[in-house]
Formats: sequence, structure tokens, C-alpha cells
Amino acid sequence: MARKSFKAGALTAPLPPVMVTVGDMENSNIITIGWTGILSTIPPRTYISVRPERHSYKLLKATGEFVINLTTAKQAREVDYVGIYTGAKVDKFKECKLTKVESKEVAAPTIAECPFALECRVVEVIPMGTHDVFIADIVSVSSDESIIDEAGKIRFDKADLMAYAHGEYFALGEKLGSFGFSTKKPKAQKSAPKKKPMENKEKSAPVSSKNAEKDDKKRPFYLDAPRGKGGKTKGKGKKR
Ligand SMILES: Cc1cc2nc3c(=O)[nH]c(=O)nc-3n(C[C@H](O)[C@H](O)[C@H](O)COP(=O)(O)O)c2cc1C
Repeated sequence: MARKSFKAGALTAPLPPVMVTVGDMENSNIITIGWTGILSTIPPRTYISVRPERHSYKLLKATGEFVINLTTAKQAREVDYVGIYTGAKVDKFKECKLTKVESKEVAAPTIAECPFALECRVVEVIPMGTHDVFIADIVSVSSDESIIDEAGKIRFDKADLMAYAHGEYFALGEKLGSFGFSTKKPKAQKSAPKKKPMENKEKSAPVSSKNAEKDDKKRPFYLDAPRGKGGKTKGKGKKR
């Protein structure tokens, strides 16, 4: 297939257009952030890239804390508004009819209408060009009960999450599978002959770090199910 090259640019997709809350319950602000992601599982660590000229930047620097609020397709208008207007001039909570609720571990409020939130404490700020990168530990997470199923599992497939790609907002489509589904063997038929051990070995996942089992004890419950000795995730896990 033919391909075309373009001038280098900061472009990848899809991104989560999150609403980041900064400040505290009395003096708070919201900023839309597209430049965010996960840096490490243990410790659970994330980042947001923020331009120094943003009003939120000063609050971030002053408190060293923030909350990443994941957003839904129904919130596209609010996300866009929060990403255009500055908290130096408008109260974005009021204008967007968003409700602040106290977070568990940080002073910055959580947005009640958002399905999932990560409370973060900054460990380092790195100038990166146009943006400064705020690297932060995720110190607590919270989820709206409406997306927690009877087994206590967080159901992101029910969360109606939104994606951002090159200036455009999208709703997510259907669920395609769960972590590891590509390696799952089809259910054995009652009459099917047992596979030889070698065949199973060839199909097993590669062995990861020797410390995987030890590390697993420290894994946050919402991210990772424990791994077996062969490095393969047990149960319905989903690891990165
Ligand atoms: C979809 C979207 C993504 C954005 N991503 C970022 C970002 O990653 N970093 C940033 O500094 N500004 C980003 N912005 C711009 C800020 O959200 C915007 O300048 C906002 O008005 C700043 O608010 P404040 O002055 O109240 O802090 C984004 C805006 C939109 C709409």
C-alpha cells in the first residue's frame, strides 16, 4: 500500500481528552488535557503536559496535586469549553454545570459527573519545549458506582468514554475483546483429544521477570490480576 510522509508533528491518536482539576475545594479550576498517559504500573505513575501560560499551571505548581477526570462522549461540549476558556476569567465548574466533590488523597476536587478519576501527586516537573511535563504518582482512584458491576469490576465498556484525534472528538465503538483474548484457546470439545505437552508449551506466553510474582503482590487491584509462574496472567487480567 502506498504511503505519504508529512512534516514531523505532535500527532498520535486516539488520546483521552481528560478534564484535569487543580487547586482545592475553594479555589479550583479545570483544564482540558490531551497530552497525558501512563508511565509506570508500579509505582502507578502518570503525566500531564501543560503550557506555562495556562492559568492552571500556576495552581499546579503551587499545590503539586491534580485529578485526572476521564470524560464521556456526552461531555464533549464541556470538554471543549473547558479547553478554550480560561479559569482566570470564568468559573468553568459553574458554566459547565459540573459538580466538585472532595477527593480522597489530594486537595484538588474530583468532578462528580466523570465516571473515573485518578488523584495525582507531582514528583517531578520537566520542561519539554512548549509544554512542561508534570510527572505524578497516582495516589488514589475513584469510580462512579454506575460502572462497577456486581463482581466489583470496573466496566469501562459501560463508561461511554470519549477519544480525541487530531482536533476531533469521537465516541468509542464496540468492545473488541479483553486483554489476552488473542492467546485464548477455543473451548475444548468433550470428544477432542488432549494436546501433547510440547504443543501447549509452544503456545504459552513468554516468561517475564523473575520478580513478577513478588511484584504482583504490589499491583493495584484495579489494574492487574496476579500472574502465574509462567508469566502468563491468570484469570481475566489486563496488564501493561
Ligand atoms: C482537546 C483539548 C486538548 C488540550 N490539551 C492540552 C494539553 O495537553 N496541554 C495544555 O497545556 N493545554 C491543552 N489544551 C488547551 C487548554 O485546555 C486551554 O488552553 C484552556 O483554556 C486552559 O485553561 P486555563 O487557562 O483555565 O488553565 C487542550 C484543549 C483541548 C480542547
